[in-house]
Amino acid sequence: MGAFRDLRHYIDHLTEALGRGEVLRIDGADRDLDIGGITELLAEREGPALMFDNIPGFPAGYRVFTNFMGTPARTAVALGLPHDTPALDIVRAWKDLSKRIEPVPPVEVATGPVLENVLVGEDVDLGIFPTPRWHDRDGGRYIGTACMVITRDPDSGWVNVGTYRACVQGRDRLSLWMLGNRHAKAIAEKYWARGQTCPIAVVVGQDPILSTAAAIAAPSGMSEYDLAGGLRGEGVEVLYAPGSELPIPAHAEIVIEGELPPVEEESVLEGPFGEWTGYYTHSGQETVVRVTRILHRDDPIILGAPPMLPTIPAGDQAVPLYSASLTWDHLEASGVQNVKGVWAYARQLLMVVSIEQTGAGDAMHALLAAAGRKRTGGMERYFVVVDEDIDITDINHVLWAMFTRVHPTESIQVLRAPTTAIDPRLAPDRLAAGDLSMGIVLIDACKPFAWKDRYPPANRVDQATRERLRERWAGVLAL
Ligand SMILES: Cc1cc2nc3c(=O)[nH]c(=O)nc-3n(C[C@H](O)[C@H](O)[C@H](O)COP(=O)(O)O)c2cc1C
Repeated sequence: MGAFRDLRHYIDHLTEALGRGEVLRIDGADRDLDIGGITELLAEREGPALMFDNIPGFPAGYRVFTNFMGTPARTAVALGLPHDTPALDIVRAWKDLSKRIEPVPPVEVATGPVLENVLVGEDVDLGIFPTPRWHDRDGGRYIGTACMVITRDPDSGWVNVGTYRACVQGRDRLSLWMLGNRHAKAIAEKYWARGQTCPIAVVVGQDPILSTAAAIAAPSGMSEYDLAGGLRGEGVEVLYAPGSELPIPAHAEIVIEGELPPVEEESVLEGPFGEWTGYYTHSGQETVVRVTRILHRDDPIILGAPPMLPTIPAGDQAVPLYSASLTWDHLEASGVQNVKGVWAYARQLLMVVSIEQTGAGDAMHALLAAAGRKRTGGMERYFVVVDEDIDITDINHVLWAMFTRVHPTESIQVLRAPTTAIDPRLAPDRLAAGDLSMGIVLIDACKPFAWKDRYPPANRVDQATRERLRERWAGVLAL
C-alpha cells in the first residue's frame, strides 16, 4: 500500500501517476455553496480531484481540496496500487492485505510542518480558514468532513482515531456529531465520569491511508494509527500536540486542539448536514470542543469530502471497497464456494457478489452469508448474487442480470434487519422509540442452477472477441 508522507505528497503523486488533468486548480470559487456545488457537479461525472485556491475573503494559498478518491484509478493510487489496477483487483488487494496485516505503531518525531503556525489565547480563531458551506440547507460550516478525531483512553492509553463530522460554531468552538457506539464517545464518557473534560485533537488534512484508517471500524483497543502503519508498511510520523499531548500527524495540514466537556455542561445545536444518504436527517444538541490551540502548516489545505447522493462516486471510494473486501472474506470463511468477486455500489446500499455455481444452493448460501456479516452501522440494503459472466463493476451489467435472471415471485427474499439512525425511510415515531428495524432484500440473479446450461445464450460480444477487437481497433475503441 502507499506510504504518502502527507496530503501534499499524495496530490503530487496523483499528478505524476495520472497526468496533469487529474488535479484541477480552481481560483475564485466562493466558499458559500460554490465549492460544494462544483465538487458535486464534477463528482457526478467522475471528474478530477479539485484544488480550490484564491477563495474570496481569504489569503491566497489557504486552500480546499475535494474529490480526493473519487474514481477507481485515484483510489488505487491512494492505496499504493498502480493506477490502472482493474477495479475488482483493488478489492482483492484489500482482502488479501487485511488477512495478513501487522499493525505498525507510529514513529515519534520531535517536530514537523504542522507546527509552522501555533495559535493560542486571543489568536485562536477558526474563522481564519475558508471552511465551506457545502450544501444549501446545512446548519453551519463543516471543517471536518474527512477529518481524524483523536482521543486517548484514560485507563489503557489506547489512542483512538475516528471520522466524525465537525462544524465551526464560533472562534473557539467546534461541534462534533458521534453516533451512539463511536469509540471517541465511549472514551469521553470515561473522563466525564471522573469529573474531567476529555482532551481531543481534530486533524483536518492528512494522507489518504490515514483518512481511510480513521473511517474503518478498527476493534476497540486497536489504534487506527497502527492500522494505518500496517497498511502503509511503515509507521506514521507523529508528534505530541503541545496542549493535549495527543499524538498528531507531524505533516497534518491543520490540527484543532481542545477539550470536550460533558454534554450537560455545554452543548450546541448541531446540523442538519447533507448526509451520505442524500438527505438531511440528524440535528440536535451535541458535544462541543472548547478549542484551546490551533496548529497549521503555511498555506493550509482543508481536505473536504462533503457527502453527496450515495450513487455519486464521491470523494471516497475506499471505504465501500473495503467493505466489499470484508464481505468477500466473510463469504469464503463461511464456506461459500467459488466466489469470483464482491463489489459495493451506492456506498454499500447495494452489495453484489459473483459466484461460479457448483450446486443448487450456492446462490442462496452466498446471499445469506453476505447479509450475515456483522456490520457496524452501515446501511447494506440490497444483496444481489450473479453468475461469473457478469461484470460486477459495471452497474449496467448488474442491472441486466437483475432484469433478466430474476423471477420476481421466486428469486427475491425480504428479511428484517436493523438500519442506522439516519436512514431516511425510518418512520419518525419508530425512530423516536429507538426502533431501528428495517428490511434487507436478497436477490438471486443467477441463472437457475437446474437448467443454467439451457438458459438462452446472451447476444453480447464475448470476452475473446472483445480482446481481439480492442487490439485490432485500439484507436476506434479509445474514442
Ligand atoms: C466521510 C465520513 C464521514 C463520517 N462521519 C461520521 C459522523 O459524522 N459521525 C459518526 O458517528 N460517524 C461518522 N462516520 C463513520 C465513522 O467514521 C466510522 O464508523 C469509524 O469507524 C468510527 O470510528 P470509531 O469506531 O473509532 O468510533 C463517517 C465516516 C466517513 C467515511
